[in-house]
Formats: sequence, C-alpha cells, structure tokens
Amino acid sequence: MKTILNKRLSTISAFINSNDKVIDIGCDHGLLGIDLVLHKNVLKMISSDINSGPLQKALENNKKYHVEDKILLKQGNGLETIDDEIDTIVISGMGGITITNILKDIKKYPHIKKIIISPNNDFPLTRKEIAKHGFKLDNEVMVYEKEKYYLVSCYLKGKDNINYYFGKLNFQDEIVKNYYQEIYNTNKKILSNLSLKNKLKRVNLMIENIKIRKRR
Ligand SMILES: C[S@@+](CC[C@H](N)C(=O)[O-])C[C@H]1O[C@@H](n2cnc3c(N)ncnc32)[C@H](O)[C@@H]1O
Repeated sequence: MKTILNKRLSTISAFINSNDKVIDIGCDHGLLGIDLVLHKNVLKMISSDINSGPLQKALENNKKYHVEDKILLKQGNGLETIDDEIDTIVISGMGGITITNILKDIKKYPHIKKIIISPNNDFPLTRKEIAKHGFKLDNEVMVYEKEKYYLVSCYLKGKDNINYYFGKLNFQDEIVKNYYQEIYNTNKKILSNLSLKNKLKRVNLMIENIKIRKRR
C-alpha cells in the first residue's frame, strides 16, 4: 500500500521499529499512527491530542483506513496521555519551545526509551533541553518540503557530549548544506542592515556565521 505520509512524517516513521509501543502526542489528523499500524505493525499505538477537533479528524481517518481497533485515541495535555506500556514518544509539527515544555516532566516516565521530535524551530534549544533529561541524540535528518526545512531528531536513553548548534546532522547531505548556507546568507543580510548600536545582536550573528564557515 502507498504511504499516506508526507516526507517529514515518513522520516519520523523510519525511526520506529515494529516492537515499539508508540504515542503520537499532538497527533492532529492521526496519519502517523495509521501508517505505523499498517506498515510497521507496532505493538501498541496511542494517538493523542489536547484538542477534540483534531481527535475527531483522527477518528474519521482511523475509520477510513479500518484501524479503529488498533489505535487508542486519547484527549489530554502532553505527557498525561501516556500509559505504563508506552516506550516511544513522537512529538512533531510544533515549535521547539512547546515541545521542550511538553517534555519537561519526562523523568516521571522511566519506561520511555525513545523520543522522536520534529520541531518547527529552535533546533539547538531542543537538543540542549532534551539532553538535560538523560536522553542522548542518536540520529538526525533534515527534511526539505514545500520550501521549508524540518528537523527530525531521534533520542535514546543515555548521555553524550554533542554540539547543540549542529547536532548530529550529516554535512555530506545537500539539504543540510543548503540549510546552513541559507542561515549564513540571511545573517549576512541582517548584519549589513543592522545599526552599529545593536552590538549584542551583531556579535551573536557574527559568531553564528563563524561557526557555520568553520563547519563547511
Ligand atoms: C500542527 S499540528 C501537528 C500535527 C502532527 N503531529 C504533524 O506533525 O503533522 C499540532 C497539534 O498538536 C496539538 N497540541 C498542541 N499542544 C499540545 C499539547 N500540549 N498536548 C497535546 N497536543 C497538543 C494541537 O492541538 C495540534 O493538533
């Protein structure tokens, strides 16, 4: 059967194995969960959302793909919809700050072994905050879709010493190269228009561009 997922959600799905017990927090349409039960045959699937509208959409999609008995739909805020069996969390399509806020009490759920996130922004912040909870960045992929860059990061239990700015992105990948080149060019443009009085902002943009230049 053809995939029902876009590139970003397919990349998330690729980090999930058939023996995972998964919750998709902020599931909206619920398509990720449907793909995971149909194509990965995951051991357990919860699709949850804080709002009833998205869950209604997810229910309709579950019926459309005949998976109502394979996916548990739950309404609730962030981690509160997790049960004792779940070992893998997905949170995607939200801002980096929202995602790190949702994960702030993750230590109360010691059975979680894997976290996959796809933040819309604030990538370095998400890496730094999740590391504080005893998870190490295992792998990352940058996705380019509809003229936007998306990050997909997979964390496992453990500790690591990583560079929070670059994470574990592969610099041989053209999408990654293009992403940092765009940041570099944007910073250069901002710097050329920024008044000399904005010293702190100027220094931060210059430091960011030096980091990028060294890495290329
Ligand atoms: C833009 S959609 C992303 C949908 C899907 N995860 C994706 O990546 O395509 C964000 C969803 O997260 C839900 N949401 C926002 N904050 C939440 C929270 N604290 N707990 C659970 N769901 C939340 C919203 O209701 C919305 O359905």
